[in-house]
Amino acid sequence: MKNNNSKTHKNVNTDKRGSGLESLLHSEHIVDVEKLVVGGDALARIQYQDKSLVVFIPLAAPNEKVKIKITHVEKNHLNGEIIEILSASSSRRPPPCQYFTACGGCSWQHITEAEQVLQKELILTDLLKKFIPEHQYSLLPTVNSPKCFNYRNRIQLKQLGSEIGYFKKGSHQIVDINSCLIAEDDISTKIPELKKNLRPSKEIRKFEIRINHLNQIEHYPIGEDGEGLSFSQVNNQVNEQLVNTTLDLIKPLNPQFLTELYAGAGNFTFPLLRELTHTQIESVEMNPKLTAFSTKKLTEMKLQKRLFAFTSDCESFVSRRDLSNDLILLDPPRSGCSDIVLSKVIEASPNCLVYISCHPVFLARDLKKILTSCPEYKISHLQIFDMFPQTDHFETLVLLSK
Ligand SMILES: C[S@@+](CC[C@H](N)C(=O)[O-])C[C@H]1O[C@@H](n2cnc3c(N)ncnc32)[C@H](O)[C@@H]1O
Repeated sequence: MKNNNSKTHKNVNTDKRGSGLESLLHSEHIVDVEKLVVGGDALARIQYQDKSLVVFIPLAAPNEKVKIKITHVEKNHLNGEIIEILSASSSRRPPPCQYFTACGGCSWQHITEAEQVLQKELILTDLLKKFIPEHQYSLLPTVNSPKCFNYRNRIQLKQLGSEIGYFKKGSHQIVDINSCLIAEDDISTKIPELKKNLRPSKEIRKFEIRINHLNQIEHYPIGEDGEGLSFSQVNNQVNEQLVNTTLDLIKPLNPQFLTELYAGAGNFTFPLLRELTHTQIESVEMNPKLTAFSTKKLTEMKLQKRLFAFTSDCESFVSRRDLSNDLILLDPPRSGCSDIVLSKVIEASPNCLVYISCHPVFLARDLKKILTSCPEYKISHLQIFDMFPQTDHFETLVLLSK
């Protein structure tokens, strides 16, 4: 939908010298919101001279008319903030969390979960249209989260002085909180307790509160890289569905040999070994804390003959080992797979490739690279798992098969 209603309320400098977009700073406009985008903002357009300019607006909802003020001017787009909602979207609702508008933890509490899911599907299909326009796929119904709140089994907070909370969106200012509505109850109630007991800090400190695999609450400081002690999926119920669906896809393929890259602590590995009793798996993970966990488990389960768990970065692993030409499972971090990993996966050209992604932009980019080199692959399964309600994040499961 294109916006033809854009009205400039302040005088925009349109003289010859002022053809740069800077003159739009602080100008006010009435816009129609088209959709939500990666990062969580809403997208609208304003007409300026002969250009249709994209403007990103936090806290707007799809299909509403809002009056905005331009807050930032970038080379190719603008940022704006809502001054007034002129016609509210039917999906708009009062955000359930008291900290929502200030806190950068969630981006979408102001719209219903049904609309959130719709927007996630639109984000994915828009990206696939852009990156792989010539490929066919059907997007299966999204797997919703049984819990829309209180679903996170771990959260990462920041502390400065005696304030603890998340950063305000786009800043390093802490929004002081006493609870977190998306965290499991036991974690949320730990926040005020921690506040009382933590020594005030002069510098920003980051720490994680989690329910560990023994169902105990623990908290510990985390490093500069923002990663906690180890990676684990944050939403147990959706993770279970993601693992089960992945198993359902792989079981009928019955691979003899499977390469699993970015294996973590074996979230997929152990269920696969349990279900595929004749399959050998080579799993690769670079975090030694995670591989220590899987090595201990594989010894306990006496799986040494069927699982070879490597502590290595995937880049060096793929440079020295042959990958399965049966089935490769990829579950990379948000930034997707590196070029070297993708080129070796393409070279191995397995019969089937399972890609689990937590960032749709990098998923679309990687699919384009794979499908350009191996056009014989079909997208035989494509599905969103709504692992992170109230935010713009989601997991996508893709099966490519020849
Ligand atoms: C999205 S997580 C998936 C983990 C696991 N599959 C799961 O479901 O819990 C990505 C994992 O890749 C690991 N990782 C990131 N970059 C890596 C690299 N270059 N080589 C090997 N592992 C990497 C991270 O430590 C993390 O455990």
